[in-house]
Amino acid sequence: MDWISFWNSDHPIYVNERHRQVHYRGIADDVSRYVTGPTAVVMDYGCGESLHADIVAAKAGQLILCEAASNVRDHLTTRFASAGNIAVKSPEEVAALPAGTFDLIVMHSVAQYLGQDETDAMFRDFKRLLKPDGLFVIGDVIPPQVSPITDAVSLLRFAAANGFLFHAALGLARTAFSDYPKLRARLGLTLYEEAAMKAKLEAAGFTVQRAAKNIGHSQSRMTFMAATR
Ligand SMILES: C[S@@+](CC[C@H](N)C(=O)[O-])C[C@H]1O[C@@H](n2cnc3c(N)ncnc32)[C@H](O)[C@@H]1O
Repeated sequence: MDWISFWNSDHPIYVNERHRQVHYRGIADDVSRYVTGPTAVVMDYGCGESLHADIVAAKAGQLILCEAASNVRDHLTTRFASAGNIAVKSPEEVAALPAGTFDLIVMHSVAQYLGQDETDAMFRDFKRLLKPDGLFVIGDVIPPQVSPITDAVSLLRFAAANGFLFHAALGLARTAFSDYPKLRARLGLTLYEEAAMKAKLEAAGFTVQRAAKNIGHSQSRMTFMAATR
Protein backbone atom coordinates (compact mmCIF):
# COMPACT_ATOMS: atom_id res chain seq x y z
CA MET A 1 0.00 0.00 0.00
CA ASP A 2 1.17 3.57 -0.72
CA TRP A 3 -0.33 6.89 0.44
CA ILE A 4 -2.62 7.23 -2.60
CA SER A 5 -4.09 3.76 -1.99
CA PHE A 6 -4.56 4.67 1.68
CA TRP A 7 -6.60 7.79 0.75
CA ASN A 8 -8.45 5.68 -1.82
CA SER A 9 -9.52 3.22 0.88
CA ASP A 10 -12.26 3.34 3.52
CA HIS A 11 -9.85 4.93 6.07
CA PRO A 12 -10.71 6.14 9.61
CA ILE A 13 -9.14 9.64 9.43
CA TYR A 14 -12.47 11.47 9.56
CA VAL A 15 -14.00 10.18 12.78
CA ASN A 16 -17.66 10.80 11.87
CA GLU A 17 -19.84 12.82 9.50
CA ARG A 18 -19.69 15.92 11.73
CA HIS A 19 -15.85 15.85 11.56
CA ARG A 20 -15.93 15.43 7.78
CA GLN A 21 -18.35 18.36 7.41
CA VAL A 22 -16.57 20.87 9.68
CA HIS A 23 -13.15 19.88 8.33
CA TYR A 24 -14.09 20.51 4.70
CA ARG A 25 -16.24 23.56 5.54
CA GLY A 26 -13.28 25.24 7.29
CA ILE A 27 -10.95 24.52 4.40
CA ALA A 28 -13.44 25.78 1.80
CA ASP A 29 -13.98 29.03 3.77
CA ASP A 30 -10.21 29.59 4.11
CA VAL A 31 -9.41 28.69 0.47
CA SER A 32 -12.19 30.92 -0.86
CA ARG A 33 -10.44 33.94 0.74
CA TYR A 34 -7.54 33.42 -1.70
CA VAL A 35 -9.78 33.56 -4.80
CA THR A 36 -9.02 36.84 -6.51
CA GLY A 37 -12.30 37.42 -8.37
CA PRO A 38 -15.33 36.00 -10.17
CA THR A 39 -13.40 35.03 -13.31
CA ALA A 40 -10.49 33.33 -11.52
CA VAL A 41 -9.52 29.85 -12.71
CA VAL A 42 -8.64 27.86 -9.60
CA MET A 43 -7.26 24.39 -8.92
CA ASP A 44 -7.41 22.51 -5.62
CA TYR A 45 -4.68 19.84 -6.01
CA GLY A 46 -5.08 16.76 -3.78
CA CYS A 47 -8.49 18.09 -2.79
CA GLY A 48 -9.72 14.93 -1.03
CA GLU A 49 -13.47 14.68 -0.52
CA SER A 50 -13.83 18.48 -0.79
CA LEU A 51 -17.45 18.38 0.39
CA HIS A 52 -17.86 22.16 0.26
CA ALA A 53 -16.01 22.92 -2.98
CA ASP A 54 -19.16 24.78 -4.07
CA ILE A 55 -18.19 27.58 -1.60
CA VAL A 56 -14.90 28.08 -3.47
CA ALA A 57 -16.54 27.68 -6.89
CA ALA A 58 -19.14 30.36 -6.01
CA LYS A 59 -16.31 32.92 -5.76
CA ALA A 60 -14.44 31.75 -8.90
CA GLY A 61 -14.99 31.46 -12.62
CA GLN A 62 -13.92 27.84 -12.76
CA LEU A 63 -12.71 25.30 -10.18
CA ILE A 64 -10.70 22.20 -11.04
CA LEU A 65 -10.67 19.55 -8.32
CA CYS A 66 -7.58 17.38 -8.85
CA GLU A 67 -7.39 14.13 -6.91
CA ALA A 68 -5.09 11.12 -7.37
CA ALA A 69 -7.34 8.60 -5.54
CA SER A 70 -9.81 7.25 -8.13
CA ASN A 71 -12.61 6.35 -5.65
CA VAL A 72 -12.49 9.86 -4.19
CA ARG A 73 -12.51 11.29 -7.72
CA ASP A 74 -15.62 9.23 -8.57
CA HIS A 75 -17.46 10.59 -5.49
CA LEU A 76 -16.48 14.14 -6.41
CA THR A 77 -17.69 13.67 -10.00
CA THR A 78 -21.09 12.46 -8.75
CA ARG A 79 -21.39 15.11 -6.05
CA PHE A 80 -20.62 18.06 -8.34
CA ALA A 81 -22.17 16.71 -11.57
CA SER A 82 -24.67 19.57 -11.71
CA ALA A 83 -22.19 22.32 -10.80
CA GLY A 84 -21.47 24.14 -14.06
CA ASN A 85 -18.08 25.53 -13.04
CA ILE A 86 -16.54 22.55 -11.20
CA ALA A 87 -14.54 19.87 -13.07
CA VAL A 88 -12.82 16.84 -11.54
CA LYS A 89 -9.46 15.74 -12.98
CA SER A 90 -6.65 13.29 -12.29
CA PRO A 91 -3.04 14.53 -11.82
CA GLU A 92 -2.23 13.13 -15.29
CA GLU A 93 -5.03 15.19 -16.88
CA VAL A 94 -3.85 18.31 -15.06
CA ALA A 95 -0.24 17.75 -16.20
CA ALA A 96 -1.48 17.84 -19.82
CA LEU A 97 -3.11 21.31 -19.43
CA PRO A 98 -1.51 24.25 -21.25
CA ALA A 99 0.86 26.71 -19.55
CA GLY A 100 -0.80 29.71 -17.90
CA THR A 101 -4.13 27.96 -17.20
CA PHE A 102 -4.62 28.99 -13.54
CA ASP A 103 -4.88 32.18 -11.48
CA LEU A 104 -4.70 30.20 -8.23
CA ILE A 105 -3.47 26.73 -7.28
CA VAL A 106 -4.04 25.46 -3.74
CA MET A 107 -2.42 22.30 -2.38
CA HIS A 108 -3.46 21.62 1.20
CA SER A 109 -2.22 18.80 3.43
CA VAL A 110 -0.52 16.92 0.58
CA ALA A 111 3.21 17.83 0.75
CA GLN A 112 3.82 15.46 3.69
CA TYR A 113 2.88 12.50 1.47
CA LEU A 114 5.28 13.42 -1.36
CA GLY A 115 8.99 12.72 -1.67
CA GLN A 116 11.38 15.66 -2.07
CA ASP A 117 12.00 15.06 -5.80
CA GLU A 118 8.29 14.54 -6.50
CA THR A 119 7.56 17.87 -4.76
CA ASP A 120 10.26 19.70 -6.76
CA ALA A 121 8.80 18.39 -10.04
CA MET A 122 5.28 19.34 -8.91
CA PHE A 123 6.29 22.89 -7.97
CA ARG A 124 7.94 23.36 -11.39
CA ASP A 125 4.78 22.12 -13.07
CA PHE A 126 2.57 24.42 -10.97
CA LYS A 127 4.80 27.36 -11.97
CA ARG A 128 4.21 26.44 -15.63
CA LEU A 129 0.43 26.04 -15.11
CA LEU A 130 0.01 29.42 -13.39
CA LYS A 131 -0.54 32.74 -15.18
CA PRO A 132 2.28 35.30 -14.95
CA ASP A 133 0.49 36.97 -12.00
CA GLY A 134 -0.73 33.70 -10.47
CA LEU A 135 -0.52 32.45 -6.90
CA PHE A 136 0.30 29.03 -5.49
CA VAL A 137 -0.88 28.47 -1.90
CA ILE A 138 0.53 25.46 -0.09
CA GLY A 139 -1.10 24.67 3.24
CA ASP A 140 -0.70 22.31 6.20
CA VAL A 141 3.07 22.01 5.74
CA ILE A 142 4.27 20.13 8.83
CA PRO A 143 7.38 21.32 10.65
CA PRO A 144 9.65 18.59 12.11
CA GLN A 145 8.79 19.48 15.72
CA VAL A 146 5.09 18.64 15.18
CA SER A 147 4.67 15.08 16.46
CA PRO A 148 1.72 12.70 16.07
CA ILE A 149 0.84 13.69 19.68
CA THR A 150 0.62 17.39 18.70
CA ASP A 151 -1.68 16.35 15.83
CA ALA A 152 -3.83 14.24 18.17
CA VAL A 153 -4.19 17.12 20.67
CA SER A 154 -5.05 19.48 17.82
CA LEU A 155 -7.79 17.09 16.62
CA LEU A 156 -9.21 16.74 20.16
CA ARG A 157 -9.32 20.56 20.55
CA PHE A 158 -11.02 20.90 17.16
CA ALA A 159 -13.47 18.14 18.14
CA ALA A 160 -14.25 19.73 21.53
CA ALA A 161 -14.99 23.05 19.81
CA ASN A 162 -17.26 21.36 17.28
CA GLY A 163 -19.15 18.82 19.40
CA PHE A 164 -17.51 15.51 18.41
CA LEU A 165 -14.97 14.99 21.20
CA PHE A 166 -16.16 11.47 22.12
CA HIS A 167 -16.04 10.30 18.49
CA ALA A 168 -12.62 11.94 18.02
CA ALA A 169 -11.20 9.93 20.94
CA LEU A 170 -12.66 6.74 19.47
CA GLY A 171 -11.39 7.71 16.00
CA LEU A 172 -7.84 8.27 17.30
CA ALA A 173 -7.90 4.76 18.76
CA ARG A 174 -9.15 3.35 15.43
CA THR A 175 -6.44 5.26 13.53
CA ALA A 176 -3.76 3.87 15.88
CA PHE A 177 -4.73 0.35 14.71
CA SER A 178 -5.22 1.28 11.03
CA ASP A 179 -2.79 1.23 8.09
CA TYR A 180 -1.89 4.89 8.79
CA PRO A 181 0.80 4.34 11.48
CA LYS A 182 2.15 1.32 9.57
CA LEU A 183 2.48 3.38 6.40
CA ARG A 184 3.95 6.29 8.34
CA ALA A 185 6.58 3.95 9.82
CA ARG A 186 7.38 2.41 6.41
CA LEU A 187 7.15 5.43 4.07
CA GLY A 188 7.53 8.31 6.53
CA LEU A 189 6.05 11.76 6.14
CA THR A 190 8.04 14.60 4.58
CA LEU A 191 8.36 17.45 7.10
CA TYR A 192 9.78 20.93 6.47
CA GLU A 193 11.31 23.72 8.49
CA GLU A 194 9.90 27.09 7.38
CA ALA A 195 13.21 28.05 5.69
CA ALA A 196 13.44 24.71 3.86
CA MET A 197 9.97 25.05 2.33
CA LYS A 198 10.66 28.68 1.36
CA ALA A 199 13.93 27.62 -0.31
CA LYS A 200 12.17 24.81 -2.17
CA LEU A 201 9.50 27.15 -3.54
CA GLU A 202 12.10 29.79 -4.45
CA ALA A 203 14.15 27.16 -6.30
CA ALA A 204 11.06 26.52 -8.47
CA GLY A 205 10.96 30.26 -9.32
CA PHE A 206 8.35 31.56 -6.84
CA THR A 207 8.43 34.65 -4.62
CA VAL A 208 7.43 33.36 -1.20
CA GLN A 209 5.78 34.63 1.94
CA ARG A 210 4.48 32.62 4.90
CA ALA A 211 0.78 33.30 5.61
CA ALA A 212 -0.12 34.57 9.10
CA LYS A 213 -2.62 31.72 9.51
CA ASN A 214 -2.59 28.13 8.29
CA ILE A 215 -5.57 26.97 6.22
CA GLY A 216 -7.81 24.76 8.37
CA HIS A 217 -7.72 24.25 12.13
CA SER A 218 -4.15 23.16 12.89
CA GLN A 219 -2.12 26.26 13.66
CA SER A 220 1.08 24.31 14.39
CA ARG A 221 1.28 23.67 10.63
CA MET A 222 2.18 26.30 8.01
CA THR A 223 0.73 27.89 4.86
CA PHE A 224 2.91 29.65 2.26
CA MET A 225 1.88 32.02 -0.52
CA ALA A 226 4.10 31.57 -3.58
CA ALA A 227 3.69 34.19 -6.31
CA THR A 228 4.84 33.62 -9.88
CA ARG A 229 6.22 37.18 -10.16
C1 LIG B 1 -4.80 14.63 3.97
S1 LIG B 1 -5.52 14.40 2.39
C2 LIG B 1 -5.82 16.09 1.99
C3 LIG B 1 -7.16 16.31 1.38
C4 LIG B 1 -7.61 17.77 1.36
N1 LIG B 1 -6.71 18.60 0.59
C5 LIG B 1 -7.73 18.27 2.80
O1 LIG B 1 -6.96 19.14 3.18
O2 LIG B 1 -8.58 17.76 3.52
C6 LIG B 1 -4.09 14.01 1.41
C7 LIG B 1 -4.33 13.97 -0.09
O3 LIG B 1 -3.06 13.83 -0.74
C8 LIG B 1 -3.25 13.04 -1.89
N2 LIG B 1 -1.96 12.44 -2.27
C9 LIG B 1 -1.21 11.61 -1.51
N3 LIG B 1 -0.09 11.24 -2.18
C10 LIG B 1 -0.17 11.85 -3.39
C11 LIG B 1 0.67 11.87 -4.55
N4 LIG B 1 1.82 11.17 -4.59
N5 LIG B 1 0.28 12.62 -5.60
C12 LIG B 1 -0.87 13.33 -5.59
N6 LIG B 1 -1.71 13.35 -4.52
C13 LIG B 1 -1.36 12.61 -3.45
C14 LIG B 1 -4.28 12.02 -1.47
O4 LIG B 1 -4.94 11.45 -2.56
C15 LIG B 1 -5.19 12.80 -0.53
O5 LIG B 1 -6.34 13.28 -1.19
